[in-house]
Amino acid sequence: MKDLFGQALLDYQHGIATGSMIVIEDIITSTSISDDDVLPLTYLFRSYKDMPKLEQKALKLSKGRILDVGCGAGSHSLYLQDKGYDVKAIDISKGAIEVTKQRGVKHTAVMDLLDETDLFDTIILLMNGTGIFQELAQVSKYLTHLKSLLNPNAQILIDSSDIKYMYEDEDGGFWLDANSNYYGELDYFLSYKNEKEMPSKWLYLDFNTLLTACTSVGLTCELIKEGEHFDYLARITN
Ligand SMILES: C[S@@+](CC[C@H](N)C(=O)[O-])C[C@H]1O[C@@H](n2cnc3c(N)ncnc32)[C@H](O)[C@@H]1O
Repeated sequence: MKDLFGQALLDYQHGIATGSMIVIEDIITSTSISDDDVLPLTYLFRSYKDMPKLEQKALKLSKGRILDVGCGAGSHSLYLQDKGYDVKAIDISKGAIEVTKQRGVKHTAVMDLLDETDLFDTIILLMNGTGIFQELAQVSKYLTHLKSLLNPNAQILIDSSDIKYMYEDEDGGFWLDANSNYYGELDYFLSYKNEKEMPSKWLYLDFNTLLTACTSVGLTCELIKEGEHFDYLARITN
């Protein structure tokens, strides 16, 4: 991984710190089923009031010792730390963790979720948290690992979307191929300043599939809130 995502966050953070926001280029993303889309860097530095309602709800439900998985620029961690919670923010992107530190989050680590071993009362995975699982075949492995990080009465708060609508044609029919993989499994492409990141896998999970996967590893999954566009927030408990 070239860590272009982290580089973009660092450039933006550096611009804020030095007051020189002249050359800001946004991240460009696309997927195996969608064309280029702009991911504005400002969005990754969002404050509570600019967060989607589902994320605000997740932050309101957070309690105790908190793990922010795939923290990005650390926006959720920063909010929770300011509220007085003990937060640990982890990300596989070195640049993201450097930015999260520079923004003031005290406990951070460049770490893959699967290498985490501490125990927590709340684990948040936000901005399509199921993306980190990459593909349907790996969901049980990630859920089992997340389960091993839970204190008694702890919770996992995770958001995702049912992206079936992306396969709908003009007549209202769906062009889903019954012989291909689960429709939420996408290849994800990212570029920044005309440089291309290595392609990665990114998983969107509909609620029922998440529920079934949770049940299969002995976890309970409850729908907390639905968003405006096929997105939802779920709470997973022991
Ligand atoms: C869509 S971004 C979300 C960032 C942040 N949660 C937010 O809402 O702004 C996903 C983040 O997950 C990180 N990530 C992906 N796989 C991961 C893994 N296995 N363990 C930890 N972080 C991971 C990526 O580096 C990226 O920063």
